[in-house]
Amino acid sequence: MSEQGSTTANEGHQYPPDPELAKTANARPEMKEQGLEEFWGEQGTQRLDWFTPYDTVLEWELPYAKWFVGGKLNACYNCVDRHVENGKGDKVALHVVPDDGPDSLESRDITYAQLQEQVVKFANGLKELGVGKGVPVGIYMQMIPEAVVAMLACARLGAPHTVVFGGFSGKAVAERCNDLEAKVLITQDEAMRGGKTAPQKTNADEGLDAGPTSIEKVVVVRRSGNEIPMSDRDIYLDDLVADVSGDPESCPCEPMDAEDLLFLLYTSGSTGKPKGVVHTTAGYLLGVATTHDLVFDVKEDSVYWCAADIGWVTGHSYIVYGPLCNGVTQVLFEGTPGYPDKDVWWKIIEKYGVTILYTSPTAIRSHMKWGEQYAQSRDLSSIKILGSVGEPINPEAWEWYREHVGAGKAPIMDTWWQTETGHILITPLPGITTLKPGMAQQPFPGVRPEVRDDEGNELGAEETGNLVLTAPWPGMMRGLYKDDQRFRDTYWSKYSDAYFAGDGAKYDADGDIMLMGRIDDVVNVSGHRLSTFEVESALVEHADVAEAAVASRKDPDTGQAIVAFVSLVGDKEGSEELEQALREQVAQSIGKLARPATVIFARDLPKTRSGKIMRRLLKNIAEGEELGDTTTLVDPTVVTDMQKQVSG
Ligand code: WT7
Repeated sequence: MSEQGSTTANEGHQYPPDPELAKTANARPEMKEQGLEEFWGEQGTQRLDWFTPYDTVLEWELPYAKWFVGGKLNACYNCVDRHVENGKGDKVALHVVPDDGPDSLESRDITYAQLQEQVVKFANGLKELGVGKGVPVGIYMQMIPEAVVAMLACARLGAPHTVVFGGFSGKAVAERCNDLEAKVLITQDEAMRGGKTAPQKTNADEGLDAGPTSIEKVVVVRRSGNEIPMSDRDIYLDDLVADVSGDPESCPCEPMDAEDLLFLLYTSGSTGKPKGVVHTTAGYLLGVATTHDLVFDVKEDSVYWCAADIGWVTGHSYIVYGPLCNGVTQVLFEGTPGYPDKDVWWKIIEKYGVTILYTSPTAIRSHMKWGEQYAQSRDLSSIKILGSVGEPINPEAWEWYREHVGAGKAPIMDTWWQTETGHILITPLPGITTLKPGMAQQPFPGVRPEVRDDEGNELGAEETGNLVLTAPWPGMMRGLYKDDQRFRDTYWSKYSDAYFAGDGAKYDADGDIMLMGRIDDVVNVSGHRLSTFEVESALVEHADVAEAAVASRKDPDTGQAIVAFVSLVGDKEGSEELEQALREQVAQSIGKLARPATVIFARDLPKTRSGKIMRRLLKNIAEGEELGDTTTLVDPTVVTDMQKQVSG
């Protein structure tokens, strides 16, 4: 049987696996039959190089797991050094594509041997600043190779990194560094995006200088090379590494305990400040390497491209640790989908012969909007596997992706996971799964999901409930930094025996899982996770704002969009200028991607007599839906005024 192509979105359409692919696929159906410790234990022995072998695969004391207990290893050794030692030093690790695209004179290749030398030098430089095992380091950079090198250099030294997305504000950087008491921050002079420069180091300074900071030294990577203000706190990377050795023996990889901290990554929760998600060394590395290999069917000659940003977990797991642990050749693109031309992505695929593309539904929808002519004008025949991540993918985008990027035949891996899970947990597998557009479908081997109602009952087919995981997996978070209680409250209190993911889900009659989006106050804008609470906090920082509440609505481009409801102090009136000022306020405080798409000014927010904001109503208003019961409101006319503003 051959696979059928389709040009139209067709719900209910299924695509059986290609038998040819099934013959050579890395994933084997029998893996699903293995016990979870058997499966992960086998992978752990085969895939990682250990300085000291582990004694026990898993020690599980809910909610904390320990994987590969007793083992010692180093993530950088597994991602870089061992490939060089195994004779792959000349293999390209990174095809570096700068902002202005693959034709740029600045595009270049970095081999594994070159990567090793750069990492060793960076690590030796960091050592001079007092960085070593257990000393946290902040990273605030764009998609340039030095960002990857910086992360690996930290891993080499055993210094946990915390990467702050380069598009976030300096304030966000300062808060996260202070939380960790990081003394060193690595940044770059300027960002290059869409042909323009944007301040990066100066943004960081603004955040650091706004209050007390733990940061004592800022390492600045030159990217634009333009003059920027430098102080005694700052040192250019070039100067830091001018006299250090690049010989791996000058800076051996620190032997780390399997459960030693590898990195922290802050992510938005439904309340309070961002959560510092803790990831440790062995389980995480094994989880990302195994999933990367089996989900994307990685071969020795694969050319892989994950178009995410290293500032998010996708970049950590599927640009840095997973692919490099697997010794793959990959594309690292600094830029955006539409610059210098709308066909830049397809040019990259053509030039480097990309075989695996991993991106977000939002990016696919942008390309879809621009039209298929751009993809059609390039040779994309190298593509074998496509991946999607970050938000549910609508079937129309799925079909377009398969048809126009995958030549009507490449299988799409719709991968569900989270910052907290560390790696992919629900996904089809190439050569095994019969694909259904818009569904992540199946647990990865060794993963045990369930769908439950609020009372804890397991639900059957077509019943929507909460997604939970009933057994541990290697890359699972090892808590929230210094906040055991919040960790337990957020993930382990809804059900006493399972991890609560915060996503709605249902099984279909075939036992495939469909993810239905967040059920908490987390908003997903273009696959970027934000909390309504954070945006509200940013809005009330403006002097004219008395109160703010934030909801989301569906958006054809970004998946979800932020709608802000704002009441003003005194007799201040809403205006276009104020709307702009508020959006700017949010950009300054969090980052541009958190800017509300719509601002609605209100005399008051809809409150019950006990003073509680009725968020359900705000959601209805934002979505332009019928309102339910409003009789409990103090002033029902508040909502009718708001509705008028939405319908314009
Ligand atoms: C949330 C996690 C996974 C890395 C990037 C985002 C949503 C993610 C899917 C998918 C449906 C998805 C969920 C999840 N999500 N992938 N394939 N289908 N929803 O990581 O920022 O931690 O966000 O993204 O709602 O809980 P994150």
